[in-house]
Amino acid sequence: MSDTVDIVRTKADLRGRVQYWRDQGLSVAFVPTMGALHDGHLTLVRTGLELADRVVVSVFVNPTQFGPNEDFSRYPRQEAQDAALLTEAGCHLLYAPTVAEMYPDGFATTIHVSGVSDGLCGDVRPGHFDGVATVVAKLLLQVAPHMALFGEKDWQQLAVIRRLVRDLDIPVEVVGVPTVREFDGLARSSRNAYLSMEERKIAPVLYQVLADMAEGLRQGRTSADLCAEGVTRILQAGFLSVDYLEVRAADGLQPLDRLDRAARILVAARLSGARLIDNLGVEPPHA
Ligand code: PAJ
Repeated sequence: MSDTVDIVRTKADLRGRVQYWRDQGLSVAFVPTMGALHDGHLTLVRTGLELADRVVVSVFVNPTQFGPNEDFSRYPRQEAQDAALLTEAGCHLLYAPTVAEMYPDGFATTIHVSGVSDGLCGDVRPGHFDGVATVVAKLLLQVAPHMALFGEKDWQQLAVIRRLVRDLDIPVEVVGVPTVREFDGLARSSRNAYLSMEERKIAPVLYQVLADMAEGLRQGRTSADLCAEGVTRILQAGFLSVDYLEVRAADGLQPLDRLDRAARILVAARLSGARLIDNLGVEPPHA
């Protein structure tokens, strides 16, 4: 293995490298990211290495999925550290395109996935999932992998991408990977870097609320009651606001009042430094 992971910055170089592998009959897994890599991302890479012969990771902070008042400009960018982590993990190729390479002059296409993009983060961040769907479609077509791995941490994003891949007949297998958490339950996120020490102590309440709500649902309590209690608890712990706390069907994301099928509890809430999201699956007791 070479000293550091190879980096390509253009579609042409990327295609050449992946085609060479495909010509040799090697399978290729792809992990799209926005960088500031942590153990959540690296778990996707490790899973890719188990499932395929070669793993390509992209690092691209995609401007079109950030709203005008969001954190695009301050989003952490640390390519050298990311490259070192990817080298250590055994990743074979890092694709780090520029904004001009992804969105050349005259770029005019947007992909909108209706239904699963509505509600939850789709309501609070208008246009966000259009930006995600468009860039993920482009990345999948550029890399042309056999499979692509995404984290369950972004459950609605995963649902949007599954729909996108089915609807556009993109020849790739989408693999979902369970959320990687800190010792106290906090979901790993690049945005955890925004938290002060005080906020870092408050943040795990999100996971505790999800876990307690899952137990409540299994005991037959209603979503409405559990969500109301959960919101109060999150605010009392010191969060500034709760964007949403909802129980949805795990697959199609329809609202659920009771645990009559596989469910997902999803939350987004704000501390002064960061907006955090998390979610947890719950199966009906006799499923
Ligand atoms: P990013 O937030 O960098 O996440 C890249 C991938 O890592 C996503 O599939 C995300 O779900 C996964 N991930 C993040 N934290 C995780 C954790 N704690 N456990 C497991 N997986 C985790 O999501 C994006 O970037 C972008 O929207 C992208 C898909 C790259 C499109 O720009």
